[in-house]
Amino acid sequence: MDKTEQTINSYNVHSVEYIEESLARGVRTKDIEWIFSKVTRKNPKVVELGCGNGRDAKEILKYTHDYLGMDASEDLIKEARRYNPGVSFKVSKFNEFVFPKNVDFIIAFASLLHADMETFKAVLMNANRSLNDGGTFFISLQNGEYREVKREDNMGTRTFYLYTPENVESMLPGELVKEYADFQDLRGKRWFSLTLRKQSIYNPTNGKG
Ligand SMILES: C[S@@+](CC[C@H](N)C(=O)[O-])C[C@H]1O[C@@H](n2cnc3c(N)ncnc32)[C@H](O)[C@@H]1O
Repeated sequence: MDKTEQTINSYNVHSVEYIEESLARGVRTKDIEWIFSKVTRKNPKVVELGCGNGRDAKEILKYTHDYLGMDASEDLIKEARRYNPGVSFKVSKFNEFVFPKNVDFIIAFASLLHADMETFKAVLMNANRSLNDGGTFFISLQNGEYREVKREDNMGTRTFYLYTPENVESMLPGELVKEYADFQDLRGKRWFSLTLRKQSIYNPTNGKG
């Protein structure tokens, strides 16, 4: 089994423990409130990458009904569907996910920490194509100069990747620009949130006064 499959398998095998831990950690109310405070459009189109058991989906759905969550763990998606009846969730890996078009917000809470640089770059390219002009990509990650970390604990064996905001910036396709980065210390580790905004390079009204 390769590293990606091993990580996904660990989330499946230990889904019960993971869900318990996830609910104990609590909903990202503040982040979600902040993200949606920037929206003017009613019912914005939102995609959540690595949505896990749908804990944060429940909060996001207070701000929009146009939501799609994806995660590679079948067991966590099963729980997300149970917890959020009637809501769209897809089982998919980051590098296989077909992004919908005309998205206003892409959110990845502590999930792209399982994506190596090659996968992360592909996600950024696809996110760029998927976002509307002015659309936002919110990412939270554990901070550290890019490297792979294998962790073996009660949740099985999982491979994580550390990034700095600069590492992410170095992979950005032309139209995605860094808007904001913020650092937090959580459970003895340093984390950051990064927002990227899509600014179309081609603007047919440019130069027409
Ligand atoms: C640390 S959890 C974060 C979950 C949730 N966003 C949260 O903040 O609680 C990482 C999530 O990424 C998912 N994941 C891991 N590898 C993945 C991959 N290659 N493609 C898609 N999702 C993946 C896991 O199943 C898990 O739900």
